[in-house]
Amino acid sequence: PYPFFAELRRQPTLAQVDPLGFWAVSRYADVLHVLKNPQLFSSTGHRGPAEPEWLGRSNPFADSMVMQDPPQHTRLRALVNRAFGPTALSRMEPRIRAYAEQAAAELTLGRPVDFVEAFALRVPASVIGELLGLDASLHPRFKRWADDINNTSSTPPDAHEWHAQIRGTYAEMEQYLKEVIAERRRSPREDMVSELLAARIEGEALTDAELLGFLFLLLVAGLETTIHLLGHSALVLAERPDVFARVRADRSLVPRFIEEVLRYEPVAQTLMRLTTAETELCGVRLPAGSHVMLLLGSACRDEAQFPNSERFDLDREGPSNMPFGHGIHFCLGAPLARMEARLALNALLDRCGGLVRDATPVQWHASIVVRGPTVLPLTVLP
Ligand code: HEM
Repeated sequence: PYPFFAELRRQPTLAQVDPLGFWAVSRYADVLHVLKNPQLFSSTGHRGPAEPEWLGRSNPFADSMVMQDPPQHTRLRALVNRAFGPTALSRMEPRIRAYAEQAAAELTLGRPVDFVEAFALRVPASVIGELLGLDASLHPRFKRWADDINNTSSTPPDAHEWHAQIRGTYAEMEQYLKEVIAERRRSPREDMVSELLAARIEGEALTDAELLGFLFLLLVAGLETTIHLLGHSALVLAERPDVFARVRADRSLVPRFIEEVLRYEPVAQTLMRLTTAETELCGVRLPAGSHVMLLLGSACRDEAQFPNSERFDLDREGPSNMPFGHGIHFCLGAPLARMEARLALNALLDRCGGLVRDATPVQWHASIVVRGPTVLPLTVLP
């Protein structure tokens, strides 16, 4: 997509992406302007397609905070914030390190594997499973659950078999999560669900429906994204042996490597907003009710913000938070994702002397929302 984005950035005004009629925002400064003005650019605009009629019920995800504006968003975010703070993260760190080391120890060395299945998926699935309080035997199902929830809004109206599968997924997930919530209500543990049940803002708690919506959101927002971050990281390491050698020899470079992978291959490629009043953006008059598509993938390659933006540069200064959004909806899981990636890559580098691609093509996620490899054939050298 990157040459196309570069072309969009060279246009003097916003482009309208046909046939959808969305206005595509491609420059860093314009994307930032939209994200800084949530009262003018609302997050609730695209709720319709997330609740198609065939779903036959309300979608807990569509009520989650990522699709809410203030004041509802403010209240929900305040209630869940602490569960992702530094104390919660340092409590999780030893267990995430253990998942990462186990996944690295079980990697097959010396012959081609699908790196996504063999490694990238395992750490995020364990982390999400733990956050949701779900049994480890359910981890293999998470990927399908997340895919099905993601696909709710893009499934064609006549894909009846697919609809039935997605409805089944919602029912299955809801049943498991409701059991977890009920169980933690009876006997609280030292975990996130118990903490969220106990959280109060001015005496007010999360309702069960809000908690359920949040847990659905975590599965969608926290699983695929981190899997893709690890997939992109491995691909960069395989394609650039010089970068591999430097990072392996000097582990203090791992966080910087992760920041540059996030910028160079932003996992979240697009965010949607709906204008609440007439406004002007990049010389275009947008009436109220206009759909605006923020191209994070383009913003992160904007040469006005990142010199030599098309180059992967391990020596680039400072992190850019843009891959995680900006403002009130800034990714709640950003510190967790960064920590997972750091622990997973260190465990991988401890075990592996090189990553080699062969002629088998990489398969990519067919989505305009997220970008990442779904099948990544690689040989991990001892
Ligand atoms: C929001 C990206 C990992 C939980 C967001 C947003 C972005 C993003 C761009 C902003 C959405 C918007 O403004 O509409 C990413 C990337 C990740 C990642 C690139 C990994 C590489 C995670 C993880 C979790 C998580 C691991 C939790 C386990 C959330 C939540 C929100 C969010 C709850 C909604 C925040 C709100 O609406 O206030 N993420 N994310 N994310 N992310 Fe992440």
